[in-house]
Amino acid sequence: IKMALFLLSYLIGSISFSYLLTKILRNEDIREHGSGNAGATNTLRVLGKGPAIAVLLLDCLKGILVVSVVSWLTDSSVLAVISGLIAVIGHNYPVFYGFKGGKGVATAIGVFAAIAFIPSLLAGVIAIITIWVTRFVSLGSIVFLVLTPFIMLYKYDLPLDAVLASFCLSLVSLWKHRENMVRLWRGNERKI
Ligand code: G3P
Repeated sequence: IKMALFLLSYLIGSISFSYLLTKILRNEDIREHGSGNAGATNTLRVLGKGPAIAVLLLDCLKGILVVSVVSWLTDSSVLAVISGLIAVIGHNYPVFYGFKGGKGVATAIGVFAAIAFIPSLLAGVIAIITIWVTRFVSLGSIVFLVLTPFIMLYKYDLPLDAVLASFCLSLVSLWKHRENMVRLWRGNERKI
C-alpha cells in the first residue's frame, strides 16, 4: 500500500496546472515563455493575475490532497510528508510533460500547511512581506522553504522524522531555485 500511495502522490504531483491553463487559454507551452518555469509566478507573467492565483491554489491543493489522504489512510505524519515530498518531485519532474515542470513552491505550501499550519502561516507571512518589499517572488519562496521546517522544529510538536522529511522537501524545491539564487546574487533576478 505504501508504494501505491507514493506512486499516486507522484502522479498527482505531476499534474501541472500552469502548463494546462496556458495550453487551454493560449494554446502555448508556458515553458517557452518568461522564466520558462511551469509555476504560478510564471503564469502571472504569461497569463496575468487571475490565472496565476488559480494555478497557485490548484498546485497547492495537490499538496493538501496528498497529505490529507495519506494521513487519513496511514495515520502517520512522516509518511504524509514523504508523500508530499514525492508530489513535489512529481511537480518538478512531471512524467506527463517530459520531466520538465516547476519549482514546487505552491505544492510545498499545500504540504506544509496541511501538516503544520501555524509554522507555515508564520513563514508564509514573512515570505509575503519579503516579496512585498523586494518584489522578488523567488526570494520569498526561498525564505518560506528555509523557515518552515525550522519553525516546525522549534515551535511544534511534530515527530522529528516528519520534520526531517520536511527539510528534504525544502531541499528538493530549493535545488530548483539554484538559477534564481545566482540571479539574486548577481542582481539580475526578475521582479514582479
Ligand atoms: O515559485 C517559483 C518562484 O519561486 C520563482 O519562479 O518563474 O521567477 O523562476 P520564477
